[in-house]
Amino acid sequence: MTAGIASVGSYIPARRVSNDELAQMMDTTDEWIRSHTGIGNRHIASDEETCSYMATEAAKEALLKAGIAKDEIDHIIVATITPDYRDFPATANLVQRNLDIRHVGSFDLKAACTGFAYGLEIGRGLILSDAAHHVLVIGAEKLSVITNWKDRSTAVLFGDGAGAVVLEPREPEKGIVDSILCSDGSGFDALYMSVGGSATPFKMEGATEEELCLAMDGQRVYNFAVKANVKIVKDLMKRNGLTPQDIDYIVPHQANYRIILAASKRAQIPLEKYYLNMEEFANTSSASIPLALAEMDSKGLLKRGMKILTVGFGGGLTYGGNYIIW
Ligand code: ACO
Repeated sequence: MTAGIASVGSYIPARRVSNDELAQMMDTTDEWIRSHTGIGNRHIASDEETCSYMATEAAKEALLKAGIAKDEIDHIIVATITPDYRDFPATANLVQRNLDIRHVGSFDLKAACTGFAYGLEIGRGLILSDAAHHVLVIGAEKLSVITNWKDRSTAVLFGDGAGAVVLEPREPEKGIVDSILCSDGSGFDALYMSVGGSATPFKMEGATEEELCLAMDGQRVYNFAVKANVKIVKDLMKRNGLTPQDIDYIVPHQANYRIILAASKRAQIPLEKYYLNMEEFANTSSASIPLALAEMDSKGLLKRGMKILTVGFGGGLTYGGNYIIW
């Protein structure tokens, strides 16, 4: 037995912010952002659209599409680095409250842009160990609240949104066949929030707003991201006896067009195999892979039996991916 994806749902905030609109707030241009990142727009959540709200809405859509009652869910996993409450409770607990699902386990998972790939494997593990029959795996982010809107080198990159899947048991050789989960904590400070945790508690006196925002060394992250992307895709292919021709789609974390282009060249896999939607949604961290899957599903691109690789890479540093027979 293994576990497979029964359905996908998503939630995207209505507020759409174009590169031109950002150019009115900071010293940037549509041309620079598009040519350096492939990003054209991003969606930004309102105050009411909290991380748990977006996660709940995406989960409701996934449940509806799966055609199962909410009480058939045994576990809720929310991958996020922008939880409603910094330390606790988990955002997954709030999703449980919002959906009013009884007798369910719920917890958050923090693996930044690789969070959804981690969530799929942990959800699969719960089903394989018979601890669960159905698992909701959600990637949800409200990155706009940890974005330094005065720093043009990071502010143009991120967006908000949520994607969710329902996992169900499947026969062997269908569903999530294999996963690779990796990390390299020595690179933690290439992309992180330096203040606010127990190592460096936030102090009101002399504090600046920027201290509570994400900080990134773009070049370091770029180099890591290309290498990690290629390694995960190649290792998943090797472990599962796949050639590039066997793969229908690679669904990467939607960080940046140039990262994916460089990775596709190095892995010698045509760029057309990579599904890209950062033009519309920018980088939504844990939400980017399920948002891409939901968009592919709504376009009718996903057919049962298709061979799909996911690949995530980001803060932590974390990287990983899944081999899925849809
Ligand atoms: N608009 C206009 N100019 C800008 C902007 C902007 N938004 N941002 C930076 N610049 C300027 C810089 O100030 C610099 O100007 P200077 O030469 O006068 O000093 C110039 O553009 C080049 O800056 P670099 O930082 O060298 O630009 P680079 O070509 O490296 O691109 C980028 C920056 C896009 C961030 C790149 O490093 C990158 O793709 N890094 C990966 C980071 C990423 O995707 N992070 C997402 C989160 S992590 C993840 O999800 C994996």
